[in-house]
Amino acid sequence: MSLPIMPTRILVVGGGAREHALAWKLAGEPGVNEVAVAPGNAAIGTEPRVRTLREVDALIPAAVVAAAQGHASELVVIGPEAPLEAGVADALTEAGIPVFGPSRAAARIETSKAFCHDVAAAAGVRMAASRAFAAGELEAALAYAATLAGSGSGLVVKADGLAAGKGVAVCDDVAAAEDALVRALRQTADPMARLPGAPRVVIEERLFGREISVIAVTDGHRGVALPVARDHKRLGDGDRGPNTGGMGAYSPVPDLPDDAGARLLAEFHLPILAELARRGTPFRGFLYAGLILTDDGPVLLECNARLGDPEAQVILPRLAGPLGPVLLAAARGDLGPVLERLPADSLSLPTMPGAAVGIVLAAEGYPGTPKRGQTIGGLDEAVRLGCLVFHAGTLARPPNGYATNGGRVLTVVGRGDDLASARALAERGAETVTWDGVQRRHDIGIDVDPVAGESAPAVAITGGAR
Ligand code: AMP
Ligand code: GLY
Repeated sequence: MSLPIMPTRILVVGGGAREHALAWKLAGEPGVNEVAVAPGNAAIGTEPRVRTLREVDALIPAAVVAAAQGHASELVVIGPEAPLEAGVADALTEAGIPVFGPSRAAARIETSKAFCHDVAAAAGVRMAASRAFAAGELEAALAYAATLAGSGSGLVVKADGLAAGKGVAVCDDVAAAEDALVRALRQTADPMARLPGAPRVVIEERLFGREISVIAVTDGHRGVALPVARDHKRLGDGDRGPNTGGMGAYSPVPDLPDDAGARLLAEFHLPILAELARRGTPFRGFLYAGLILTDDGPVLLECNARLGDPEAQVILPRLAGPLGPVLLAAARGDLGPVLERLPADSLSLPTMPGAAVGIVLAAEGYPGTPKRGQTIGGLDEAVRLGCLVFHAGTLARPPNGYATNGGRVLTVVGRGDDLASARALAERGAETVTWDGVQRRHDIGIDVDPVAGESAPAVAITGGAR
């Protein structure tokens, strides 16, 4: 049995709370001597054995390749979707540097909703009933919307591609859908969608149920599941208000059995991996399945080509073993040595007992335009309480403080023997960290039933709103 290789120098690409959590986790592992983060943020470089490369533009493939070469990185891990779409993984692969993160072509599983539906259908993976429409097909789109609305449960309009201001609108009727359709048919950032006749909008049947995030480490053909997490996307307590990039997360998810991650991996991720490989675009990276647990079983709502944020902030602290060797094995296209060392029949990475709860603190104005420059208090106290604090939208404020500088500003994570104690600690930490206008939820980790029948406002902001 060959042993997985431990990387000693790792480059993480990105600069949010997810990348802070990745750098913290990787830098704390045996054998790692330095994690560089490009560009990182004001706080990430204060972690032991972590250095930020603030001057690197993560969206310029050649700049990331040069940074990895300069740092002598043995592994590059890409956090956000934008560098994937910019072709950063492709450039690193071409330069012969092991990269954990999919090629631009494979990342279309996230960057085009129509592509995701197409791949899932070919793979026999269940998604909501849907159709894709191109610019100029407004009439046909409205007719399909009317058919779905006629069934009485509403519909969902999704812009295809990662447009800035990308929207997912959950609509009760055709009138609500029309505005979202007109907007979505006008805009998309997916370059493939600029081809004549390419889809610009996807209309879906609306499904009901609790959501979960199941993320796997994949090597193009095989995968291993990370602990399952639940994200809360709505801004307000009780899952009310507009959609956001995520206001908090927890793991494990108590309404699922322990082996759920591995079972869902077999049902969703592995068929999708096989189909992408069959098409000549194998997916190597974090494959994220956003599932909704309907009365008829789990259904795929979306795939992402990366770790979730804020899911990463609660998943990574729960891992029992080092992640670096797992990611390096996958980056080299062979998870075999990792899979061989898992307990018999297990397709999940071992986790520590207990739970983690992460509460996102957001700036005033989020998910619209956030108010910047507010001085943040209580950070040291939260750490003294035993919380982890992962920064996203912060700026150093001399001599040794921080100010707000983005929408989702930071995530406060509490760990405990069970969900209740993890939640209690996260709540204490989140209460301690404060600034003028701070927004947060107070029910992360409490089992909240989705509010039946309540829609997000048309053209709610989702992934685009950081
Ligand atoms: P997406 O970016 O596709 O995951 O959509 C963002 C959020 O919109 C999801 O997490 C759900 O809360 C909601 N959503 C998306 N698609 C559907 C659907 N077909 N039915 C109900 N809610 C949905
Ligand atoms: N938390 C959802 C996402 O990262 O897309």
